[in-house]
Amino acid sequence: MDSLDDAEELAAVAVSLRRHLERHQRAGIGAVGRAVVSKTNGVAARGSGSPLAGAENDLFVDVNPVSETGSLEGLRAAIGDCRRCKLCAGRTNLVFGVGNPNARLMFVGEGPGRDEDLQGEPFVGRAGQLLTDIITKGMGLRREDVYIANVVKCRPPENRNPEPDEVAACEPFLKKQIELIHPEIIVGLGKFAVQTLLQSKMPITKLRGQWHSYHGIKLMPTFHPAYLLRNPGDKKLVWEDIKKVIEALGA
Ligand code: URA
Repeated sequence: MDSLDDAEELAAVAVSLRRHLERHQRAGIGAVGRAVVSKTNGVAARGSGSPLAGAENDLFVDVNPVSETGSLEGLRAAIGDCRRCKLCAGRTNLVFGVGNPNARLMFVGEGPGRDEDLQGEPFVGRAGQLLTDIITKGMGLRREDVYIANVVKCRPPENRNPEPDEVAACEPFLKKQIELIHPEIIVGLGKFAVQTLLQSKMPITKLRGQWHSYHGIKLMPTFHPAYLLRNPGDKKLVWEDIKKVIEALGA
């Protein structure tokens, strides 16, 4: 290889390294595992804790801070001031999720409404109060015993359904939350959350009340609390579903 080739190769490495570091900077990460930036007399050093420690090609692997993280705090940091979809334009707060990171039971809704957007916490409006009643009065648990999250983390305008590109952008965060919490049971709230989790187009009326599996985790679909506010007659069906969850948790 002549010196021109060497110079070109060096330049390519420098560009690749800079892009790699910029990606991590954008993700709010100063240090990613072993890829810690340090310089010795202006030369990136090899050795433990150096940027080039580890496999030869680590530098060129696009490390994904969302999938790499091992904690909910790390996941929240990796999401950062999210601009991955158009919902960011209308949000006040990104609504990440709330509750016990070791919860046995997790509730998944659709996306934040107005109250949730303003407060930055899921299910705090009228539908949220009904969900809280289900958890506390119905199940005898405290809200902080369970974990509550949504499919999309930012409020869709006028509370419309999230669009496919918005779900696609946000779904990895929910998947990672579920992976990190690893609940025994997920209760899917409403058609949208359940169809997203199960990758199904079946109506919620057909899905609810039966156990399903989300990657090996028991999933109980039920009606959304907002639907129950409009159709209080169906509360008894939700109670049937919740009794199955209580029974499974007791086992
Ligand atoms: N509806 C949802 O699906 N999620 C919330 O957080 C609030 C209302």
